This record gives sequence, C-alpha cells and structure tokens, in this order.
Amino acid sequence: MMRDDPAMIQALSALRLQLEWGADEALGEQPLNRLAPAAPPIPMPPAGAVAVPAPDPVPARGSAPSRAAALAAAAATPEALRAALAGFEECALRATATNLVFADGNPQAGLMLIGEAPGAEEDREGRPFVGRSGQLLDRMLASIGLDRSGFLITNLIPWRPPGNRNPTDAEVALCLPFLFRHIVLTRPRHLVLLGALATKAITGSSRGIRQMRGRWVDVAIPGLDHPLPALPMFHPAYLLRTPGAKRDAWADLITLRRRLDAA
Ligand code: URA
Repeated sequence: MMRDDPAMIQALSALRLQLEWGADEALGEQPLNRLAPAAPPIPMPPAGAVAVPAPDPVPARGSAPSRAAALAAAAATPEALRAALAGFEECALRATATNLVFADGNPQAGLMLIGEAPGAEEDREGRPFVGRSGQLLDRMLASIGLDRSGFLITNLIPWRPPGNRNPTDAEVALCLPFLFRHIVLTRPRHLVLLGALATKAITGSSRGIRQMRGRWVDVAIPGLDHPLPALPMFHPAYLLRTPGAKRDAWADLITLRRRLDAA
C-alpha cells in the first residue's frame, strides 16, 4: 500500500487513536478487521417501536422562541439562516460572545454532527470544534475515514456561554428553531448527537446519554416530513475527562461507520 493510499491513512489514524487511548498490545492471536463490510447488520428496532418524539409544542404567539422560529422559517438557505442568527438579538449569550459559531464542514455530505456550544477557542475563531475536544473528535473521525469534507458540524447553541457554563433550558429553546431549520435546509440523512445536551434537545428523551449512546434512534424534526436516524455519542470533552469511556466511544464510531457504509 502507498503512504498516501486512503485505506492506509485510515488504518494509521485508527492505530494512532488506539495507541493514544492506551492500547499498547494486541490481545488476540489473529488481527480483527472491525471495518470489514461483511459484518452482520446492526439489528434496528422495528419502525413504530422507536419513540419518535412529538415536535415541540408551538410556543405562545409573540414569545421569544416563536419569534426565533418565525425568523428561522423565513431563511431559505443556510447562508440566509446564518445571517438571520447574526441579526437575532434576543439571546443574551450573543452579548458576551466574540463570534457567532454557525457551522463547519460540508453541508452536502448527508451527515450532520451536533455538539453543545462553542468554547473559548471556537468563540475566538468563529468555527465549531477547533479546541482540544474538537481536535480529539477530528482524530476519532479520521479513524473511520471521515474528515470535515464528509460531514457538517454545528452546535445546539451558536454563541459561547460565559465561562463555558451549560446553556440554560431557555437558551436552548431559543436557539433550537435555528438548528431545526438548519437541518431542514441541509437535509442530512444521518445525525450524530454529541453529548447529553444535544441528545436531550433533539430526541426529547430524558434518558441519560449512558443509556442512549451507541443506538440509532429516529427523531422527528419540525419541518421535515420523515424521521431522521440519529446516533447519540459521548461528547469528546467528556472523553478527555473520562478515559474509561473511550472503549464505548470506539464501539459507537464503528456503529456509525457501518451505518454510513450500508446507506
Ligand atoms: N464543544 C462543543 O460542544 N462545541 C464546540 O464547538 C466546541 C466544544
């Protein structure tokens, strides 16, 4: 294989990730190709057995979330949506943020990753997932052959909460119509939900990320006439703090790769 062979690059990325995560010896006698297409399909729950959450109730006329929804609905392209967000003054987070962090990657890729909210570096650069957890995420995705040309990445909240605190429910409710519209406008075939907050906001489920990660769930997106398959995963910031969870994260990456290969 040549050094610039994509299969070689992917294999080396996967190996580097395993080394970085502490795998320093092979336990089996035989190598196991976890990316082999012959793997049995992941059983999917039958349609109807999956809880498709109802769309958020329509907010009261004139409330801030309803104004957000009206503004988002009027955007006919992702660029117009970005401009609408840039002009949206009702979310207090924009006052303390340096930049709007809208999205990065390929809007045509068919795969959208949704994180939580920008951190300090994202706020400085105006691009999602460019700090430590973003770099880890990039390495994880490289190990299954994905770079930012292969997905679109965005956040639940497009402005950095001060001091990296968790966004409040009210802030999430205010920003969600823009994210839903972003999904409608870019029509991804699959979503990846990074962390508990994105998982709760998009699936509507109050089950924890530990229960939900690694299993595809169909989600209803207001404005889309069909449910979208979404895969909750641990947030990379959690993986930086909790090395023991990396084994599960690796399994989830394989789950994602298989689904993309089967699509
Ligand atoms: N964490 C997130 O959830 N999003 C970012 O953009 C960066 C870190």
